[in-house]
Amino acid sequence: FSYPMPANEPVLQYAPGSKERDALQKALAELKKKEADIPQYIGGRAVRSGDKHPIHPPHERNHVLGYYHAGTKAHVQQAIDAALKAKPTWEAMPWEERAAIFLKAADLLATKYRFYINGTTMLGQSKNAFQAEIDAACELIDFLRFNVHFLSEIYKQQPISAPGMHNRMEWRALEGFVLAVTPFNFTAIGGNLPTSAAMCGNVVVWKPANTQIYSAQMFMKILMEAGLPDGVINLVYVDGPTIGDVCFNHPDFAGVHFTGSTGVFNHMWATIGANTPKYKSYPRIVGETGGKDFVLVHKSADVDAVVTALARGAFEYQGQKCSAASRAYLPSNLADRIKAKLVAEVETMKMGTVEDFGNFVNAVIDEKSFDKLKKYIDAAKKDRKAKILTGGNCSKKDGFFIEPTIIEVRDPKYVTMCEELFGPVLTIYTYKADEFEKAMDLVDGTSPYALTGAVLAQDRSAIDAATKRLRHAAGNFYINDKPTGAVVGQQPFGGARASGTNDKAGSMLNLYRWLSARTIKETY
Ligand code: SER
Repeated sequence: FSYPMPANEPVLQYAPGSKERDALQKALAELKKKEADIPQYIGGRAVRSGDKHPIHPPHERNHVLGYYHAGTKAHVQQAIDAALKAKPTWEAMPWEERAAIFLKAADLLATKYRFYINGTTMLGQSKNAFQAEIDAACELIDFLRFNVHFLSEIYKQQPISAPGMHNRMEWRALEGFVLAVTPFNFTAIGGNLPTSAAMCGNVVVWKPANTQIYSAQMFMKILMEAGLPDGVINLVYVDGPTIGDVCFNHPDFAGVHFTGSTGVFNHMWATIGANTPKYKSYPRIVGETGGKDFVLVHKSADVDAVVTALARGAFEYQGQKCSAASRAYLPSNLADRIKAKLVAEVETMKMGTVEDFGNFVNAVIDEKSFDKLKKYIDAAKKDRKAKILTGGNCSKKDGFFIEPTIIEVRDPKYVTMCEELFGPVLTIYTYKADEFEKAMDLVDGTSPYALTGAVLAQDRSAIDAATKRLRHAAGNFYINDKPTGAVVGQQPFGGARASGTNDKAGSMLNLYRWLSARTIKETY
């Protein structure tokens, strides 16, 4: 059974006075009016532990959106039990019926719940309307529809046979359960990590970041409405050590699908490695982790294109995309013009709540992130080796607001050129325009990460040189564009080195990891 390649979900623009803007504003008002009571979902049941924690919009820290019921080790164990109980029926279900559930969930997201999934993302994760639309609506819908197509292509792949024999490949799910651990920054990643594994016939325990719970539970309810059988995906709200203690010590642990920090992923990897003898199979370890994404500008680049790539690449969603531009290398012949135009552009960006659609920049995710960013910015302010070109103000009075900040440095290894900050801070270094080779060496040698990067140049030989020289510096390499905004089906996403296992989200590469093939040979 084959599913054709779908089209990408069209992006709504939310223009002033449009019907969609009205509908989204209504959804936001409705969500804000009531305090949601948010249970875990285990074995298809809503589980209320009574250990309630408030959820605040990062841009309005005194407002309460609702309370989530935190879980314990016992809940994680129950989630595993429910998953393993659901497994035989789920695996045996005809693939077309499994696919129908995810396609229905995509349609529910596109129609009935579009403004609610966007609304929960805007309020819970402080994302503006457009950023929520391309994430929680379009990207998540695309993940579901494209993965159904990709998986149907995988299922079609069969070995050859010969006279007197028939060979076939059975694309089994993994034996055991899969753990999905998802980040705050993309509702679409939150939805993709559990569903891509589940689509392949796996059963899943899903632990979202606490700062993602508000949108995650919305998506979980949509999956249930779409007909996901009880126990196939179980949503729990616990901390990292709690989930790790139970899952990584369980004999049926079959794999982890992770997006988050490199440090946490390394820790998981080591724990799983040490526990290997406990498991029935070698677990699949799939992760997308940190980044220190670059923009390298050649002396032949178009200045306006550079300014757009940097302004949008560094500051959309407050620089909290794993793909966000955070270090830029400018050629000396263009540096002054780029800096002047970029600073002017950034200073037009309005900052504030998500409900005012004129705001381009909203709050960073939480106090921990705010404090970390402020520390780097304050240090740069005091350091004569760094110069703040714009921004630098931070306030956590009403919400966690960090002004879009550009730091200029003379040392290409300055701390903010090297370390991942995960916020609206861009560091700029100017190189001698004739030393492009050296600049490429710097790009490649400054950070252990290799997630995304961009080169801007009009000169074809410079594009060619950078594409070759920076072959391993980024898993997603952009030419004359910003390094963010990968679209499912168009730019499969992921990076290697310290940025993860590069099992490209939204591609067959990712789905293969959730399958364990059996080769069957029959002679006659
Ligand atoms: N897919 C996102 C982007 O490309 C990052 O996760 O911006």
